[in-house]
Order: sequence, then structure tokens, then C-alpha cells
Amino acid sequence: MKTIISKPSTTSYEKAGELIREGKLVAFPTETVYGIGANAMDSQAVKSIFKVKGRPVDNPLIVHICEKGDVFKYAKNISEDANILMDKFWPGPLTIVLEKKELVPDTITAGLGTVAIRMPENEVALNIIRHAGVPVAAPSANISGKPSPTNAAHVIEDLDGKVDMIIDGGCCDIGLESTVIDLTSDTPTILRPGKITKKILSEYVSINDYNADEVAGVPKSPGMKYRHYSPSAKIILYSGNKNKIIEKINQDVQEYFFKGQRVGAIIEKEYYDAVKCRYKYDIGSCENEDEVAKNLFKILRQLDEDNIEVAFITSLSDRHIGSATMNRLLKASSQVIEIN
Ligand code: TXA
Ligand code: MG
Repeated sequence: MKTIISKPSTTSYEKAGELIREGKLVAFPTETVYGIGANAMDSQAVKSIFKVKGRPVDNPLIVHICEKGDVFKYAKNISEDANILMDKFWPGPLTIVLEKKELVPDTITAGLGTVAIRMPENEVALNIIRHAGVPVAAPSANISGKPSPTNAAHVIEDLDGKVDMIIDGGCCDIGLESTVIDLTSDTPTILRPGKITKKILSEYVSINDYNADEVAGVPKSPGMKYRHYSPSAKIILYSGNKNKIIEKINQDVQEYFFKGQRVGAIIEKEYYDAVKCRYKYDIGSCENEDEVAKNLFKILRQLDEDNIEVAFITSLSDRHIGSATMNRLLKASSQVIEIN
């Protein structure tokens, strides 16, 4: 298949909308990460998303809408809390899990009685959904298991020749996927942390502790049980005393290098000069959690570009969006070692 690659324009929105209505796949940017979009009401189109990504069929997709009011078309029994959060955070990086209405295909929800819905704020995303005229199912536009794409080059790497169109809208502002919150039980529960943190949400509604890895082997958010965000490189994460960690990383770099491995180090700006390694990746300042969040997936992908076999990283500041960055980093890591 020849993939059309276009910059955002009225013509490309019209083309993207037409393709989505025909049951085809279009990758596009959102403020979080790039998504692969298909008509959420078309089961065949939705199935082709799973096929292209190599995604397990028991992992449901998010339905993207361009008007807040559309939520009432696809979900029912919408609580007061849900209304408060939609009013406050839509459009934006918050996905809300609600009871689904009959018309939402089971392929989207993986047979669950609930549906995840989000109204993105990225203008390109909104324009595409608007031009499609249908709700758009869109998982992150990566092959399953790989880090989510935060620019069009990442999408091209994974999906060129496999989707009908890719809209190149530059770098995603946030660089991590949306916060997913379940609003079907009495107390809202965060299923996937994101830029809108528990602390922020708690200002509006009371929130249960994050419990993605649910009791009794039945995960509330099926996606969280899979290995995620993994580059081919083995990631070793050190937590604890920063200065000691830097010392340890310098030792490890030497040791693995002498074993003949291609070694990398992912380092915060403040410690960058203190680490001696041929392949160093500056993830941003420890004072700037937004910058670090935005760089993580890009660097994980860069490791593979550079054929890195093992990469070291320190735990990152996690007061704000950093808690979501650490959630993704822990999933990407093969080993976590405490240094005190
Ligand atoms: O930021 C984002 O949310 C991006 C952009 C493209 O919007 N999309 C994204 O989709 O990250 P995906 O498919 O990669 O992740 C969706 C997550 C998965 O963890 C999935 O299990 C969960 O949402 N999810 C979807 N429907 C659900 C449901 N009905 N109940 C619980 N979790 C659900
Ligand atoms: Mg994903």
C-alpha cells in the first residue's frame, strides 16, 4: 500500500475524512502522541487497526470525538463526576471510561461493557475528526509494544505502507499518552497516569488510588498488563542517591563496554557532563518535568536507531507529569536497581 504523507491543510483534512469514512486508516497527531484513526462505528475498520498494530484483541481502543456533547451518543449513566471532569478538562489529555451504549461495536471495547472516550485539543486531530464526521477510534500509532510515536518520523518508521495516510503535524506537545480515568464505579479510578495527575483531578472529584494492575487477574484497563514502551535496547534504571548513581553509571558504562556491548546513558541536563559515555542522551532538566516527559519516547526510539544494546538511566523527578513519565519508564525497563 502506498501511504499518503501530508502536512495539515484543508485539502488533507478532506482527504483524511474521506478515507476514514471509507473504512481506511489515517495516522494523525494529538497533543499527547500520534494516533492511528479509523471510523469507530465500522467494525471492519477497527479490526484493521488491531491487525496493523499487532495489538492483542482484548485491549480496547479510545473513541475520539470533536464535540463534548457527542459523549452522550456513545455512553450512558454519565455521573456528576464525569460531567465535572469533561467540563474542566475537555478538550484535553483526559480519557474517560464510561458505560457504553449498545451502538458502540464490541471490537472497540474488546467486549467490555464500558467505552473510553476522549476529546483531544490538538487542532489537527479535531479537524480530522470533524471532517470524518464520525467518531474516531485511535490507539497510539506504533507497532504494539514499541514506544508511542511523538513525531511523524516515528509513525513513518512503524506504519509506512501499512496505513492509507499519515498527517505530519510536527512534534506532540506532551509526548505521553492521556490520563485514563474510570468513572463507572463509585469513586473515580486512574487506570493510566498522564499529564492530568491525580493531584490535579483531586481538586475536582475524589479519586481512588491508581490500580491498573487489578485484583484477581482482571485488569480494569487491559492495556496496562502488556509489556510496553520497550525499545530493543535493555534499559537499566537506577533509583536512589543521584551522585552515587552517576558514579555507578560511569562504572557500568566501562564494564559493559569492555564486554563488547554498545552502551548508552540517558541523563538529565544537570548531570550530563558528569557521565562519560560515547552515546549520551540529554532527557532535559530535572527542574522541567514537561520537557523530560516530551523527550522520553523520542530517546527510547533513538536508542534503537543507534543500535544501543544496553542503556542506563536514573529515576526522574515525579511531582507532576513526572509520575506518568516514571510509569512509562518502569514499564520500559528490564531492571530497576536501588542505589543508596
Ligand atoms: O493519548 C492517548 O490516549 C492516545 C492518543 C492517540 O489519543 N491514545 C492511546 O491509545 O494511548 P492506546 O490504545 O494506545 O491506549 C488506550 C488505553 C489502553 O491502556 C486501553 O487498555 C485503555 O486505554 N482502555 C481503552 N478502553 C478502555 C475501557 N473500556 N476500559 C478500560 N481501559 C480502556
Ligand atoms: Mg498505546
